Amino acid sequence: MEDLGPVAWPPEPIRTERLVLREPEPRDRATFVELLASPEVHTYLGGPRSRDELERDLPVVPGQWPGSFVVELDGSMIGNILLRRATVHRRPAAVGKADLGYLFLPRAWGFGYATEACAAALGWLAGVLPGEPVVLTTQSANVGSMRLAAKLGFTEVERFEAWGAEQWLGMRSPAATAS
Ligand SMILES: CC(C)(COP(=O)(O)OP(=O)(O)OC[C@H]1O[C@@H](n2cnc3c(N)ncnc32)[C@H](O)[C@@H]1OP(=O)(O)O)[C@@H](O)C(=O)NCCC(=O)NCCS
Repeated sequence: MEDLGPVAWPPEPIRTERLVLREPEPRDRATFVELLASPEVHTYLGGPRSRDELERDLPVVPGQWPGSFVVELDGSMIGNILLRRATVHRRPAAVGKADLGYLFLPRAWGFGYATEACAAALGWLAGVLPGEPVVLTTQSANVGSMRLAAKLGFTEVERFEAWGAEQWLGMRSPAATAS
């Protein structure tokens, strides 16, 4: 994965009904550690990283690149949205496309925050790179992620085996909207 390419970054913070999407800041580091060390968050993502290793290796401001949004609720980070370019991908249909990923703290699941934030990030992308289709890869067993993908307007391109599990590749055409 590489970054999105020539987009103006960072944008002004994006405000939704309940959330703010903004670039990462030093004060988010502890939450990045929590997110990346969480076994629950990484159930379908190949397992978490060790907290000690993260504390040692993460930069002062983790996740600082164009297309990486911290999602904030009431002034605190609850998740990270990743829009990158899939320059290398196992599936030819995804190569070179903008790619959406998302990680939210378990305590923030079940409130519709991921849907709200991802819809806003996709809206931002449509503004800076009009006409871009977006792809998304998730394990088909990851029910919450599959539901989120559907709500955001992603439709199935194909399923494939990788990393010891069935993966789902979805794509969202520029005209799709979140419900
Ligand atoms: C994938 C993930 C972001 C989904 O989070 P989520 O909170 O379930 O997703 P949503 O924001 O769509 O919330 C949906 C739930 O909120 C509920 N909800 C409550 N209030 C709501 C509101 N005001 N608006 C919308 N939904 C609301 C919905 O009913 C829904 O619950 P349900 O799934 O039981 O039907 C989260 O599970 C996660 O971070 N997982 C780990 C990382 C991961 O696997 N990423 C995927 C690979 S990129």
